[in-house]
Amino acid sequence: MKLIAANFIHHRTTTKEDTTILPEVVVFPPFPYLTTAIALLEGTGIKVGAQNVGLETKGAFTGEVAASMIRSLGCDYVMLGHSERRSLYDEIDADINTKVKLCLKENLNVILCVGETEEEYENELLRSVIDMQLKKGLMNIQPSSGDLDRIVIAYEPVWAIGTGKVATPEQAQIAHVAVRQTLSEIFGPNAARKIRIQYGGSVTPASIDDLMSMPDVDGALVGGASLTADSFTRIVDGGVVSLSSTFSSTTTMPNVRPKELTAKECVTTKNALGESPVWSQRDQCLYWISAQEEEVWAWNLQDAPYRRLMGTVVGCIAILNEDNENDINDQKGSLIVAGEKAFLKIHMMSEGTRDFSSGGTVLCNRPEQTEATRPNDGRVDRQGRLVIGMYNNYHRAGSSAGENNAGLYRLNSKLELESLLDYKYRVSNCICFPQEGDVMYFCDTPTRKVYAFDYPKEEGGKLSNRRLVWTVPANLPGGPDGAQVDADGFLWIALSGAGRVMRVDPSTGRVDMVVHLPVDCPTSCTFGGPNLDELFITTRGPDGGGLYRVKMPYGIKGLAEPEFFVDANVNDE
Ligand code: PGA
Repeated sequence: MKLIAANFIHHRTTTKEDTTILPEVVVFPPFPYLTTAIALLEGTGIKVGAQNVGLETKGAFTGEVAASMIRSLGCDYVMLGHSERRSLYDEIDADINTKVKLCLKENLNVILCVGETEEEYENELLRSVIDMQLKKGLMNIQPSSGDLDRIVIAYEPVWAIGTGKVATPEQAQIAHVAVRQTLSEIFGPNAARKIRIQYGGSVTPASIDDLMSMPDVDGALVGGASLTADSFTRIVDGGVVSLSSTFSSTTTMPNVRPKELTAKECVTTKNALGESPVWSQRDQCLYWISAQEEEVWAWNLQDAPYRRLMGTVVGCIAILNEDNENDINDQKGSLIVAGEKAFLKIHMMSEGTRDFSSGGTVLCNRPEQTEATRPNDGRVDRQGRLVIGMYNNYHRAGSSAGENNAGLYRLNSKLELESLLDYKYRVSNCICFPQEGDVMYFCDTPTRKVYAFDYPKEEGGKLSNRRLVWTVPANLPGGPDGAQVDADGFLWIALSGAGRVMRVDPSTGRVDMVVHLPVDCPTSCTFGGPNLDELFITTRGPDGGGLYRVKMPYGIKGLAEPEFFVDANVNDE
């Protein structure tokens, strides 16, 4: 204890001003040493917990220790359901559940241990064992009562405890996902995402980094390796590094820092203005543009990316689905391009069409046939129509910075345009739709505010019921650019100028995740990859211009990008 205290005292006490997320550290000595531990660790920030409690609060139960006694010592935690308690002392889930509830009532935090034996693992019973242990152990705990903030789950495969047989990071991840699925069944997906799940079983300084790099491994329960102060400190250090990409249970508190992820460059194009990333399920390919360079880019995540030169400034692109082309090969690579003067149709995937400059076929005029504006951000709605926002061409030069001259339009399958807003703005961005398609997000970038509208599904309707979703905080430079909605309805907004993408809960305006980029200007983002579980981020120069990518943790996924649908009877002219 003295050695651990010495290792920790100078750099482990967290304060609200700290910029690093430090792991919470708790030690669980046997009962007789609890008070000594509390005294020796005072001022270090390390908490103390008990390895068990009795089944009763009051009465004559000689030899038992009540939760209230543990609390009265100044302990913060109790560990329950450890496999040795289950196997050597016949503790059953119903008793463990009683103890969980007694501890929560005493405002103690609980680490609930679950895990399968070797035999159960070999018989592929992992899922059902932990499912049952969790459901019984957490029975009758109300998700709304605040108790959930005080529950941590430790997944400990019995075959790995004290045996030197550590689960591989992949095995641990699979089990942790199963734990989170059960938690999600019990308490709902949002609560499940916030509950920390530790891995336990032969964790050492050598295995901690790989384990903690798994998205669902939020911490470790360490036995043997905690008996040497230095090795325990090194394990905690492993937690410091990795916690920057994992949740801690304190995320339910309002002043808590959001989770941080970092995106890496995956395509090193120097786009002057990368934008409009769309992932095509049909083509298993990511498309995006570089606006002023008049390029449309394609990358299937395997081969070299390639581009097509359009001969016109490009505002945005969408996947095109033509009713009259039944042959899937004809459809493949088909895109609609919002060009400076017109909407165009192009094929990115037909024979011999790589790196060329042949332009596209004109589909129809773009809205506002004026030099003062051009098409900018756009996405396809859930009915297959393209919503397109315009851009004040003088905005960047600043000559009419205050002028609202750009409108918002919708192109339907008959290639008819309708106006969706009865007022104008300067720079359209953030256009995206949640799954239900009855809401549309939008921002006018210079205002730094993101709005939600009720979205009119019927022809001729207007956007209505504008409400503020989020304002860029005053301490961040830049403005909101492109955005995308994930499968849970959260909004991912690229903050151009601030080098990050933020995940905002549109119902509360709270930011709970931040993706950092090493460049200043991310311009838009979308989900892609075969499982829609990667976020792709376009950027622009001068320091940026590459395509960035980050794998989503916690089972976060995107929605399939809808295709723009053109009616068979519409003449291409
Ligand atoms: P171990 O113990 O790290 O020595 O395997 C873990 C535990 O007892 O839970």
